[in-house]
Amino acid sequence: MSEAKEERPVMRLEDLGLSPTIIRKLKEAGYKTIEAVAVANVNDLASILGVPINTVQKIVNKARDALGLRFKTALELKQESRNIGRITTGSKRLDELLGGGVETRTITEFYGEFGTGKTQICMQLSVNVQLPPEEGGLSGKALYIDTEGTFRWERIEKMARAVGLDPDEAMKNIIVARAISTDHQIAIVNEAMELIPKENIRLLVIDSVTSHFRAEYPGRENLAVRQQRLNQHLHQLARIAEVYNVAVVVTNQVMARPDVFYGDPTQAVGGHVLAHAPGVRVQLRKARGNRRIARIVDAPHLPEGEAVFLITDEGIRDVEE
Ligand code: GTP
Ligand code: MG
Repeated sequence: MSEAKEERPVMRLEDLGLSPTIIRKLKEAGYKTIEAVAVANVNDLASILGVPINTVQKIVNKARDALGLRFKTALELKQESRNIGRITTGSKRLDELLGGGVETRTITEFYGEFGTGKTQICMQLSVNVQLPPEEGGLSGKALYIDTEGTFRWERIEKMARAVGLDPDEAMKNIIVARAISTDHQIAIVNEAMELIPKENIRLLVIDSVTSHFRAEYPGRENLAVRQQRLNQHLHQLARIAEVYNVAVVVTNQVMARPDVFYGDPTQAVGGHVLAHAPGVRVQLRKARGNRRIARIVDAPHLPEGEAVFLITDEGIRDVEE
């Protein structure tokens, strides 16, 4: 966690110098904190508040100023980069491929076919984020948004025991929300903005980020709307990662048959959905037995190549030499 962030006095919406009416409308719409306003979508806010976009932009800028999010010197950027936290995946090889683990302040997308280990990685990270920094964690909690009903507490129990955490404590530190639609998924993320600082959450998982969008906007005729809503969602997630210094991990199932998705921009050549949002894209594929192969896509700052890892009873591990 960024030290400066922890020491920052907690400010309330009332401290921004906004009119009482605006404050009331913001709160009624669920924007209860300065952080929530700072990461809000300007168009959404404009329609909620019934004021012009440029007025909303001023409100959002005030919130961003209050959080120190606007102009920064290069030195400040350097200091912030020291605050990036990394969570171990359980595999040293995979960590190295990711530049030391899954990073805070960014979105990491794991995409691949069914059974490639996307959910296993999410559950492993939710356990590992709880470890102290010297063991590859961030001494924090996880918020796990499960859209497919595939989260298993039994698996968490096993993985926790395997890394030496008390299983009950570890399960208490993973807050699970089952999202049943795109609207619900987006609403949970909005609520998360209050929960993240309050609960010391350092990892936000959405497994999977795309399934409800695909189900609700089927066919080519809906592609444009789907893509727009998904992009908005991803951008909000990117802002949350930055503002709260948390790692955001999303998964995205892609099919083996690319022809099925021909012409689908959310399912382009590489298959990832982060094309228009900042972040790290990791493609997973199956290999022999319980081996899986990870490859980083479009990341000039990360080492090229692939990492082989295992899905074992204890969780994500390296292949023994
Ligand atoms: P979809 O959500 O269907 O797209 O797949 P996914 O990429 O999320 O796959 P998931 O993470 O669910 O990985 C499934 C793989 O993990 C399967 O090959 C399982 O055999 C393996 N797996 C799951 N649980 C265990 C376990 O307790 N022990 C072991 N050894 N392997 C497991
Ligand atoms: Mg899964």
